[in-house]
Amino acid sequence: MDREAILKKFEPKLSNILYIMHDLQDNNPQRYLAKADIEACADYLNLPYSYVHSTASFYTMFSLKPRGRNIIRLCESPPCHLMGSKSLLDYLKTSLKVDLGGTTKDGIFTLETTSCLGACGVAPAMMLNEEMFGNLTPEKVDSILDQRRKEI
Ligand code: FES
Repeated sequence: MDREAILKKFEPKLSNILYIMHDLQDNNPQRYLAKADIEACADYLNLPYSYVHSTASFYTMFSLKPRGRNIIRLCESPPCHLMGSKSLLDYLKTSLKVDLGGTTKDGIFTLETTSCLGACGVAPAMMLNEEMFGNLTPEKVDSILDQRRKEI
């Protein structure tokens, strides 16, 4: 979908800024807000570029640099931490050969952490793009990521 089509889905109101930014970011194969996305959003909402840029900088769910096609967000809040998210993070870093915030060489995954996802009952939990997964083990994570590779 092109930027114009995304923008036209929303009324040009400030209250839509986060929805617009989300859709622009999701539409980018590298899952980030490019300069042209920010410019388009600012023009559409009649806002200064700096306003949209600082909004994107403030929220951790937005990225201003290119990422992988799939964003892994592993929860690191206390309940998940207690249930092993730290060792899961170490496992993911090793198996994907990336540091935190890094993107795999094939551009398929970016590894990030997040605070509570509201799924503490199934800790440790993570999101893969918009999808939630819980009761994670290294084997389960491998299976989820393998499945995603097959879908690409
Ligand atoms: S602490 Fe991880 S989902 Fe709530």
